[in-house]
Amino acid sequence: MTALDTAPLSPALGIEVSGVDLSRPPGGETAPELRSLWLEHGVMLFRDQFLDDPRLVDAARLFGEPVKPNSVTEPEDGRDPHVLLVSNIRENGEPIGVLPDGELQFHSDSAFLEEPLMATMLHGDQIPSRGGETLFASAAKAYETLTDDRKERLRGLKAVNAYDYYTQVKTAAYDRTTGPFAVHPVVRTHPETGRKAIYVNRLMTEEIVGQTAEESATILNDLFERLEDPGLRYTHVWRPGDVLIWDNRSVQHARNDFPAEETRLLRRVGLKGDRPY
Ligand code: SIN
Repeated sequence: MTALDTAPLSPALGIEVSGVDLSRPPGGETAPELRSLWLEHGVMLFRDQFLDDPRLVDAARLFGEPVKPNSVTEPEDGRDPHVLLVSNIRENGEPIGVLPDGELQFHSDSAFLEEPLMATMLHGDQIPSRGGETLFASAAKAYETLTDDRKERLRGLKAVNAYDYYTQVKTAAYDRTTGPFAVHPVVRTHPETGRKAIYVNRLMTEEIVGQTAEESATILNDLFERLEDPGLRYTHVWRPGDVLIWDNRSVQHARNDFPAEETRLLRRVGLKGDRPY
């Protein structure tokens, strides 16, 4: 075992690793150790990395297989097609990336796909002077706080997850005829750790299959409130050069609002996942 220099990010989840230079991805025992620590803690932070696109994609490969985002066309400027911009910068009036402005509700990335992303890596580039923090919630710990009776009642339930690519705060039901949607278990089992986690989220989950609208809303709202318990959270205050990677199978994330007149730019790499069960 190598001695990795680590510190918890919050009592609930997350770990910071110091002394690792991701521009030269570690080999030997360090790479599997990093991955196993990440599985345990759900979120991993590396500060002061300042990676270009190819190095960011290589760093993501320590954890899984980078995939090209399906929401955008191939970049025309020679940038790495695995890297998606998350930014409010606009060119000719159009955002240069995705999720441009303000608040973003809690979600697990691409839960509306049959095979959602396993993990997501974000690199901080331009950070507003206030706001724009990314909030992480342990969906595994939220599940573990449920009573045995409640866990039993959730067993076998499935929910519809839908999303339109321009929505960051859900205000009404989505039109499932125009966007992707997928039916997934309300509680998923992590395929590597075996840990169970709540897998419905405020941004994308529409309804629980086979329940009345009222029953479905009652169950979902209770689960959303548990997920959003501040005691289960880590709030990441970004600095340029930060690299964060989170496990979408056990963690949900959201974003705080930030001043529209300030610039926010991050680069994102998604890692291939499989069908939740
Ligand atoms: C995301 O959900 O991938 C973006 C999070 C953020 O902008 O902080």
